[in-house]
Amino acid sequence: SGSADLVIVANRLPVDRVVEPDGTSSWRRSPGGLVSALEPVMRVHDGAWIGWTGGTSEESDDLAPFVEDGMQLVPVPLSAREVEEFYEGFSNATLWPLYHDVVAKPLFKREWWESYKRVNQRFAERAAEVAAPGAMVWVHDYQLQLVPQLLRELRPDLRIGFFLHIPFPPAELFSQLPWRRAVLEGLLGADIVGFHLPGGAQNFVRLVRQRVGHKTHRDLVTLPDGRQVRAAAYPISIDAADFEDLARSPDVTRRAEAIRAALGNPKRVLLGVDRLDYTKGIYPRLRAYAELVADGTFDVEDTVFVQVATPSRERVDEYRKMRDEIDMLVGRVNGDLGQIGRPAISYLHSSYPREEMAALYRAADIMVVTPYRDGMNLVCKEYVACRYDNDGALVLSEFAGAAHELSQAWLVNPYDINGMKAAIVEAANADPKELTRRMKAMRKTVAEHDVDRWATGFLDELDAVRPSGRRRV
Ligand code: G6P
Repeated sequence: SGSADLVIVANRLPVDRVVEPDGTSSWRRSPGGLVSALEPVMRVHDGAWIGWTGGTSEESDDLAPFVEDGMQLVPVPLSAREVEEFYEGFSNATLWPLYHDVVAKPLFKREWWESYKRVNQRFAERAAEVAAPGAMVWVHDYQLQLVPQLLRELRPDLRIGFFLHIPFPPAELFSQLPWRRAVLEGLLGADIVGFHLPGGAQNFVRLVRQRVGHKTHRDLVTLPDGRQVRAAAYPISIDAADFEDLARSPDVTRRAEAIRAALGNPKRVLLGVDRLDYTKGIYPRLRAYAELVADGTFDVEDTVFVQVATPSRERVDEYRKMRDEIDMLVGRVNGDLGQIGRPAISYLHSSYPREEMAALYRAADIMVVTPYRDGMNLVCKEYVACRYDNDGALVLSEFAGAAHELSQAWLVNPYDINGMKAAIVEAANADPKELTRRMKAMRKTVAEHDVDRWATGFLDELDAVRPSGRRRV
């Protein structure tokens, strides 16, 4: 065994390896909410992080573990074929759509499942190598659901936690998966299985009872050998204070003003920020907005919608398709409704550092977050954290996990275009007092339930687990 007392196992390392055309390489922060959430946790622990570098093992020889920002990083190599079958295939064309309410049709391919098992085994082996005796290992997300069981077989001394960053679907949907039982058994290797919402934990416990046949009582599963597994909700969040500090900094304040000036100092800026993903509801949101411009409710002279879409999973078919659809919609809307120097939608297919995001949040009067289904959604919490003057409006899908906490947002159903239009107009016309009332309440929630509370809450409970699998209290 190794020496790390806390081991994070996630599909991605917190940094991606970027290889330039001239063969030189550098590290860049990885995309997505998972990395943003765990980075602050790791800063205060003496741990190791096991993950993929974002490239293929043919491009780079096996990389040795290295230290970055005081963390030990342990790269797991994936071959080009594994990237295709394990990452693009099983993780992102089978599990991702299945767990997100079948917003796109999940593909079930037997070769992909074989690859998923092999890669999960490799992650489990790496974790078994670096973990100190009795260490806590925290496994993350849908790409690695078999790791808890595989790791327990190698290292029964460890305390193993698992957290799912995306929704856990109802039994009716999950049961479509040909390998449903193996996935449930994989997760049951953990002592604690965490979800964003109580509903996810309930779906899981119900499936374990139905499909695996174990005894369950409320949030506890009892395995035939007496070991107990707890399924519970731990809603994830952001480093709220850190975001607020960033938002208050002179650089970000200046940049926010510069952004508004570059947009022609409009009266009103609406903002969408998403990974370019079909679950995010970008298309219906932009359609709703375009209709409001077309019918004269908003005028491109004084109102603009800024949509940031971060490139994501670009080799997966459904992602290509949706990019084409959105490109076409934006082009058509701007062609039909824009004027010289005044597009209806200012569309950015790019990813930006945190400073630029904070400036965008500061520059926006209305943030529009309308996923069809989202585990939590951290973008809306970032927006709230940056609005230290208690101004600005949030329009939020009721199908984002965050809607359970941010109930003072204008909650919308992204399938209901008219409903979304009405909410956007209401938010745009709300008087300042109303905005303050809502934003104040949301800011309080985000400040109190920050990412540190999420991580500490989970890890404290994991720490209380004894090797026998029974709890101290
Ligand atoms: C979501 C998932 C993460 C994933 C991130 C970025 O937040 O929950 O597991 O890392 O998206 O997606 P990618 O496929 O680029 O890692």
